[in-house]
Amino acid sequence: MGLEGRGSNYSRLKELVENTMITVYGEGWPAKAARALGFQREVIVREHVAPIRGLPAGSDSIRMAFISDLHAGPTTCPKLLLQVVDMLKKLQPDLLLIGGDLVFLEARHVDFFAEALTEVRPRLGSFAVPGNHDLWADDRHIEKAMAKAGVRMLVNAGCQLPSPFAGVSLCGLDDWYTGTPDAERAFDGREHVDIVLMHQPSNLLDLHGRSFDLALCGHVHGGQIALPGGWPLIVPAGPLSRKYNRGFYTVGENGHSSTLFVSTGIGCVGVPFRLFAPAEILFCTLVPARTRLQPKIVAAETTTTAVNRDQIAATVAGN
Ligand SMILES: [Fe+2]
Repeated sequence: MGLEGRGSNYSRLKELVENTMITVYGEGWPAKAARALGFQREVIVREHVAPIRGLPAGSDSIRMAFISDLHAGPTTCPKLLLQVVDMLKKLQPDLLLIGGDLVFLEARHVDFFAEALTEVRPRLGSFAVPGNHDLWADDRHIEKAMAKAGVRMLVNAGCQLPSPFAGVSLCGLDDWYTGTPDAERAFDGREHVDIVLMHQPSNLLDLHGRSFDLALCGHVHGGQIALPGGWPLIVPAGPLSRKYNRGFYTVGENGHSSTLFVSTGIGCVGVPFRLFAPAEILFCTLVPARTRLQPKIVAAETTTTAVNRDQIAATVAGN
């Protein structure tokens, strides 16, 4: 294998390392072993409420799910990804957003996940952006597979949600590190977009003062291996990967306060486990900008644990 997608920054050393992993990891024994040992079983549902300017006062709220960094491949157990699909089916979001890195090493790994995801059909649609691993694998294969699952890739592109939420604007950026992000095209000349979908926090640098209400990304995995309390030992490439490594941040320029959410993601890269960086689904209620709603528990199953004051988590143990 080698670089099959359009991603940049794919060095000869990376190619050598990835080819070695493809040979050694085969069809995924590391992930299966990790799951058998008790890793890769926990997925947290975090709940949040986000005010959105494009929703007029008095309009209904939108229930949005956001997942990122699935990393289908030999270091992520297929059962974990099917568990995520089952959780999405139970959550029944109106809108599904995916922050990229659907695969690790080879694009073909996305196929079974895409097939399972066909059973999740949010009424307002499903949208995704590519991550660096997708652009290195084969982004065209991934885009086709996701299209079959009803997921539209937003690569430097924007859209309005379907009626009756046509006032809500959404755009997706190409990856900061390996793609060619173009906020001018993604924003389509607008200075403000309600929701920005991007792969990594460093994509904030592409916005050049444009404003948004909510930006969603992944990439950092919370370090994937972190110290107790969540301090990541290593973060992936990107000048903002350390500063914004997980959770919610208030950011903004030109006097507009915006929310950035950095997901810890779902799957694993390199090694088949996480430490103090649990897999998570964000379940976010989008409300009119002047509304105040209290989050409800949307636990899919089993134990409910408070994560902090305004986020509620549900831990789901899979088989
Ligand atoms: Fe990732």
